Amino acid sequence: MRFLLLFMLVSSCAFTGVLSDHERRERKGEEEWEEKGSKRGLFILDKWEKVVESEGGEVRVVRGFGLPMDHGSGFDGLRKGLLHIGLILMEPKTLFVPQYLDASLILFVRRGEARVGWIHKDALVERNLKMGDVVQIPAGFTFYVVNTGAGQRLQIICGIDASESLGSANPYEAFYIGGGTSPKSVLAGFDTKTLATALNVTSDEVDTFLGARSRGPIVYVTEEPAGRETKHRNGGRGFLDDAAEWKIFPLKPLKGLLIWLFGIQEDNTVRAPDTYNLYDRDPGFRNNYGWSTALDENDYEPLKDSDIGVYLVNLTAGSMMAPHVNPRATEYGIVLGGSGRIQVVFPNGTTAMDAKVSEGDVFYIPRYFPFCQVASLGGPFEFFGFTTSARRNYPQFLLGQSSILKTMVGPELAAGFGVSERRLRDLVDAQGEEVILPSWPEPERERERREEQGRREMRGREWRSGKGVSPLLVS
Ligand SMILES: *[C@@H]1O[C@H](CO)[C@@H](O)[C@H](O)[C@H]1NC(C)=O
Ligand SMILES: *[C@@H]1O[C@H](CO)[C@@H](O)[C@H](O)[C@H]1NC(C)=O
Ligand SMILES: *[C@@H]1O[C@H](CO)[C@@H](O)[C@H](O)[C@H]1NC(C)=O
Repeated sequence: MRFLLLFMLVSSCAFTGVLSDHERRERKGEEEWEEKGSKRGLFILDKWEKVVESEGGEVRVVRGFGLPMDHGSGFDGLRKGLLHIGLILMEPKTLFVPQYLDASLILFVRRGEARVGWIHKDALVERNLKMGDVVQIPAGFTFYVVNTGAGQRLQIICGIDASESLGSANPYEAFYIGGGTSPKSVLAGFDTKTLATALNVTSDEVDTFLGARSRGPIVYVTEEPAGRETKHRNGGRGFLDDAAEWKIFPLKPLKGLLIWLFGIQEDNTVRAPDTYNLYDRDPGFRNNYGWSTALDENDYEPLKDSDIGVYLVNLTAGSMMAPHVNPRATEYGIVLGGSGRIQVVFPNGTTAMDAKVSEGDVFYIPRYFPFCQVASLGGPFEFFGFTTSARRNYPQFLLGQSSILKTMVGPELAAGFGVSERRLRDLVDAQGEEVILPSWPEPERERERREEQGRREMRGREWRSGKGVSPLLVS
């Protein structure tokens, strides 16, 4: 059976239109930069595509970027660091049917509760997920998702690492295992005789099995046992018998089906990766103005497999994540709550974007580009996202106490700005906080600042004559 699936995987890969998309993708690589930016800002991603629409829910994806690979190399399907952001929405008591993707997934439960089952090595593992949980599903391995929250919609944000994707026109390709007529199971691509032989059942049984459901990839389920218990030597047979009669898909035979199909064990002793909760851990940084936490491969090993990092930030009203740069990764973010502004700067020191964002907006920050996030005065600003590297990110802060400006202050830097060292030190020391900075202008701070400024002005000419201050210092 595993051989069959391997064969299936290989053969499906061969016929998915890689060649026909070749030219389009090549052209896309060049135009992507302009094409992707929205009217609201160059780095806002708002072109959501509905990739799954079903009675029990939907999946939407906004495409991100990758580095186009050398098209002459023969690895046309590969794109380094290609990451899309997806949103899985499921109604209560629904199942996202078993499937595998040409992309690995990092799931983050934003709201609700879920049970995710997937095939890890030779075993089927299941994990219960709650709000804030992160779990990685490797590309090419079958998984399913059940909304287990009582009467609660499930919202999952996912990072779709498509760097090893087939490179088709879709953001990713799903190969449904479970599925009858819609979605069509990849099993249906084999002729009935092949399947009948491989499954060791009659052709009629195969037809029943594959013709069963047509209600889309996210279907209503019940935890109740199937109405009629059929006794067979092998759990799979019972599954086949009942398939035609299901109005509501019973969950119970699902595990049986997968175990039977893949010839695997349900083995709870296998050491499968656990999930990781972002809210339960201590934030990496916290002060009075907010907190931020980042998950890399050292915290959660499966991230290494996708080479993707995960982060979560919560700023209090009016606070700001100090201007910084990611030296190692492009960053994608999605606003979970509140509103704020994202400012991004071009290498040439001009503003690339200053966009207002609120709940649900997706933005990205190219590697090396300086940027900052500012919460609006109305309330906390919470955003979550992915970085295109699982290694520790070492963000470089440009301003604030832990900034490179502070670290490098000295005659060299002063000369670089064309001011005296004393003046540079005054400027750099004015901000006593680091990483997450308080709201500005704040009436009291403003008054203090003016008083301090008055004192400085008495220090002499040097201070007064300073015109044409570098853009870096003015923000
Ligand atoms: C196929 O099924 C028949 C009975 O339906 C059984 O006798 C036979 O052993 C099965 N073959 C395999 C290879 O499992
Ligand atoms: C973010 O911080 C605010 C308070 O500043 C708090 O009310 C809110 O619950 C926090 N959000 C999360 C997800 O922790
Ligand atoms: C700075 O760079 C951006 C992007 O390359 C360009 O659009 C803009 O015109 C440049 N501005 C200046 C003043 O050179």
